[in-house]
Amino acid sequence: MEHDGGISRRKEEHVRGALELAAVPHSGAFDNYRVVHNALPEIALNDVDASCEFLGKKLRAPFMIASLTGGPELAGKINENLAKGAQRTGVPVALGSARIAIHDSSTLSSFQVRSLCPDVPLLANLGLVDLDRAFDINDCRELVKKLHADALIFHVNPLHEALQTEGNTDFAGLLERLRRAVHELEFPVIVKEVGHGISAEVFRKLDECGVYAVDVSGAGGTSWGYIEGRRDKDPMLKRVCRTFSNWGIPAVSILEGLRETRRNAKLIASGGIRSGVDVFKAVCLGADLGAAGLPFLEPALQNPEAVADVLRQFILEFRLAMFAAGCRDLSQTGLHLLESR
Ligand code: FNR
Repeated sequence: MEHDGGISRRKEEHVRGALELAAVPHSGAFDNYRVVHNALPEIALNDVDASCEFLGKKLRAPFMIASLTGGPELAGKINENLAKGAQRTGVPVALGSARIAIHDSSTLSSFQVRSLCPDVPLLANLGLVDLDRAFDINDCRELVKKLHADALIFHVNPLHEALQTEGNTDFAGLLERLRRAVHELEFPVIVKEVGHGISAEVFRKLDECGVYAVDVSGAGGTSWGYIEGRRDKDPMLKRVCRTFSNWGIPAVSILEGLRETRRNAKLIASGGIRSGVDVFKAVCLGADLGAAGLPFLEPALQNPEAVADVLRQFILEFRLAMFAAGCRDLSQTGLHLLESR
């Protein structure tokens, strides 16, 4: 009998499914935009300043590692390597959903990586659908305290829950619960999807709640239809998952839709970001930060240096894109840099 309701097994299966997915050639969620090359940038590469501020800390580039996992032993190794790689490169790191740790304290250590990344923003993660059900606001507070995290991410994932036989699909009344959490919690709250996107309308509702940031996590990257379909035993449910394998709003469309929106919340773009050039395109389209999950899974199973290596690649690509587009700092990135193919 599994004492955690099967969460550990599910998390391991998610990691294995995602690794399989990572091996499938990727279509390029940001490929319908090209950066306007500037043959006379009038700056020195060394003068390019990609730095920005996030959660009160200075970053070398506007990029973070998206939430991946936690709980089982394998997940502990992943979080440890992500944290060490993030510390070596000065990149924020988000942990996976810690609901398992609230119910089974023996799994908490797999999320306790603060000592490995003392200088970067560290973000805890829980499912909003479980707030006031599987845990309450005090549990959120305790979790962030125990992890020494800078902020709490609530993920909202209605379709993903619905594609899992064990999923929680009662999404009624979540906005009000979020509003209260944002009001009562002493640290910044961030809301994200997990790969199906957050529309401009939903973004506005979240912004009105006073969240610190919204990560749109759009379609075109990690596909939960694929990952859950691989787990399903029932052939009919496998077919249903396949039907939804490409569901959602791509991050690019979301950013386009939010262009004219006045907002207080920071805008994080993820879902199919696979290089520093993709991050640059997202920033040109109005994102404050880019994030990626899947590209870090395989390196995180190896060692910290493998994670740091991919992060350095993203940062270098971002700086090179800034240079070749003629941007000295982030205030100079703008829509004029992009053209449709
Ligand atoms: C995720 N993601 C995720 N998100 C979240 O908020 N809490 C979580 O626990 C997880 N767990 C998780 C496990 C695995 C194996 C993957 C690949 C992803 C979603 C992730 O943070 C991100 O939003 C999406 O993966 C989209 O970005 P990419 O992967 O296309 O870069």
